[in-house]
Amino acid sequence: MDIFVCIGSSCHLKGSYDIIQLLNERIRRDGLEDRVEVKGSFCLGHCTDGVSMRVGDTIVTGVSRENFDDKFEEYVLGALER
Ligand code: FES
Repeated sequence: MDIFVCIGSSCHLKGSYDIIQLLNERIRRDGLEDRVEVKGSFCLGHCTDGVSMRVGDTIVTGVSRENFDDKFEEYVLGALER
């Protein structure tokens, strides 16, 4: 499964590189390297909603350091379990 993190200018300013780092750390910690790959993406069209990412067909907005684990569990682990 691919996760595309928006690195458009608005999301970049809101910390997309932090989110990419958190994703890579969490994927390593959970041993998901063979199942999940993190990629960068151009603007996903949700610039005012904080850092956006696309997990499969789902756009996840407002990702921050604070809510990262919740979003990861809901959208990434949730999608892998389906
Ligand atoms: S810059 Fe990220 S959604 Fe537009």
